[in-house]
Parts: sequence; structure tokens; C-alpha cells
Amino acid sequence: MDILNWFRQKPKPAERPLLRAADSRPYGLKALPSRPMIWAIGGGKGGVGKSLVTSSLGILLAGSGKRVLIVDADFGAANLHTFFGVQGSKSSLSNFFKGEVLDFSRLIIDSGVHNLSLACGEKDSLDVADFNERSVAMLKAALRTAPYDYVLLDIGPGTGGSHLDLFLMAQTGIIVTSAEPTSVENSYRFLKCLFLRKMKNAVNSSSDSALKEALQRLFSNNWSQRVKTISDILHQLKQMDPQKGELLDELMGGMKVGIIVNNANGLSNPGFGASMERACADYFGIGIKHMGDIDRDEKVPESVRLRKPFMLHAPESNAARALRACFAKLTTPDEQASEPESKGMVI
Ligand SMILES: Nc1ncnc2c1ncn2[C@@H]1O[C@H](COP(=O)(O)OP(=O)(O)O)[C@@H](O)[C@H]1O
Ligand SMILES: [Mg+2]
Repeated sequence: MDILNWFRQKPKPAERPLLRAADSRPYGLKALPSRPMIWAIGGGKGGVGKSLVTSSLGILLAGSGKRVLIVDADFGAANLHTFFGVQGSKSSLSNFFKGEVLDFSRLIIDSGVHNLSLACGEKDSLDVADFNERSVAMLKAALRTAPYDYVLLDIGPGTGGSHLDLFLMAQTGIIVTSAEPTSVENSYRFLKCLFLRKMKNAVNSSSDSALKEALQRLFSNNWSQRVKTISDILHQLKQMDPQKGELLDELMGGMKVGIIVNNANGLSNPGFGASMERACADYFGIGIKHMGDIDRDEKVPESVRLRKPFMLHAPESNAARALRACFAKLTTPDEQASEPESKGMVI
């Protein structure tokens, strides 16, 4: 059954517990003193509102007194500077990845909003070959010592390995989707690739060769018959070897993922976000939390046309209120979540 049909089924209660019990960390406000906290904003599709969400969350973080850097990592359509009404920088991430600019700080420009800076992406599409594992490692190293409390990565569509690794750099991941079937399908595909990538990275970084062997056996052993979901992989591994299953569970830990539904008005099912949450729990065995819905709002394109950041242009609009609600949820400790099923969030 394809993933979209699977999602359309009436959700069943999870047969197995989520991978890990909830911990008490808030999504956001707990950066290590010396390193910025990273939030990645992505999802499967272009045009769903990732840059709107990134720029708005950045403004809200900056408004709460945090020093924020937004990295425009949509290499196919880097246009975040337009959301702030500023010109892009002379040098872009592409120059940095190609070694033409060695100093990361040269990519950074003032966004015009207090406490908020931008690292510009490439205005023309970045050649796929120029963005690879090495680029991810370079960005990781540059951000480790960057003088910010938060770094927000605005990530373009795609499910390539380096792309997924970029998303996996974050402590908090935010998937932006619309309720359209194509967008939902892309979001699930993105999540599936993300978790498989995370599993692969976790296993590769482990020195435990027996774990690698056990997983290889699992994948080669008629896996399409027996392993249907990502949680099946862990479940089967735990059955084969409980210790290795626990170890992989450990290695997978660390990131929290939330979903924001944009352009949400006209949703025939008002519980859409919650049903996505349940579907992710069933399919991935992982708690992914619905952070909120943002309605289509004419003030958004108006702000883009006027080249003013949306949250400053129309702070009293419905979409701005919804974005503030998402922000509040992102920065609230898990204990305060009302639904028990939304608590198992660690992947
Ligand atoms: N909630 C919304 N209401 C109205 N227009 C929106 C909304 N969200 C996004 N848009 C419009 O859709 C376009 C694409 O949004 P954007 O954030 O650039 O998407 P992405 O970064 O995912 O490609 C923008 O021009 C923006 O004006
Ligand atoms: Mg964008």
C-alpha cells in the first residue's frame, strides 16, 4: 500500500509503544552555552511556506532577545532575503562550499531586524555536485562556533543524502506542509527518507560491527515481507537481538520533529494535523508533534510584495497569530502538551 493510502486509512491505535518515552526537554529554549541551537525547517515540497515559517520564527526568536542567524539553504530557490526586503550578499553559501570564500562570516548580512542576521544562499540554483557531504561538514563546523543562540536552516525540497544530513544537523526539525495530497505525500516521503538516513548514519557511526551485521541480515532477509514500517525495523531487531535493538534505539535519539500545516483553511477535516501525528506514530513508530495550522492570509503575499517581513507587516493578522501559537508550542516543554500520544517525540 502506498504511503498516502496508508495515511488515508482510519488511524489505528499504535500497536507498539513509540520508540522512546517522552523526555522533558522543550523544543527550543535550551541551547548549550557555547553552541547555537539549530532548528531546521524543511519538508518535501517547494512553495508550501517554509520561508514564511522560517522568517517568522526567526523574528519571534529575535524578539525574545535571542541572537539569531537564518541560513538560506534552499539551493534551488534561495529567496529568503526577499522576505526581509534586503538585497542578498555578494558572496553566497555556494562560494563558501566551493572554497571561494573561506570565512563564513563574510556571507552574513543584516536582516534589518534587531538580533537577526542572514546567511544568503545562491540566487541561481546551486549545482547538485557543489552540495555534498563535505559541504554539510563545512557548514556544521562553521555553525559550531557561530556567535548566535539560534541558527534556523531554511531547507529546500529534496531527499538526497546531503540534504537529509543538513536537516539532521538540527536539534529541532519542523516540517511545513499544506493539506494537499501532493504535499502530504511529499512530507511523508521526506520523513521516511529522513529516518532511514538517520538510522544509516547512526549505524555507520557506531563501532559495533555486530549491530551493522544484524541490520544487514534484517534488510536482506525478505525484508519487504516482514518490515513494513520504520518502527518494524526496530521491533524486528529487538526480537532478533534485544541488546542491539536497544543500542540502535539509543543511537537514533536526539532530534525532535514537529509539523506545521500552512494554507490550512478549507480543511475538510479539522483534526487533520492530529491525524498526521497519529499516522506518523503508526508508520514511523515515532512521535511527531503537530505544532499548529496557519490559514491562507492575503497579508502574506502583500508583505512579500511590499518587501516587509510578514510578522512586522501584519502582526495582528490571523496568520501571524497562528505563527505565534506555533512558536509558543515549539518553545514549551513537553510536559505541558495536553495529549498523551503527542509526547513521544524523540527519534
Ligand atoms: N499562509 C499563507 N497565506 C497566503 N500566502 C502564503 C501563505 N504561505 C505562503 N504564502 C505564499 O506562498 C509563496 C511561497 O511561500 P514560501 O514561504 O516562499 O514557500 P517555500 O519556502 O516553501 O518555497 C509566497 O509567495 C507566499 O507569499
Ligand atoms: Mg523558500
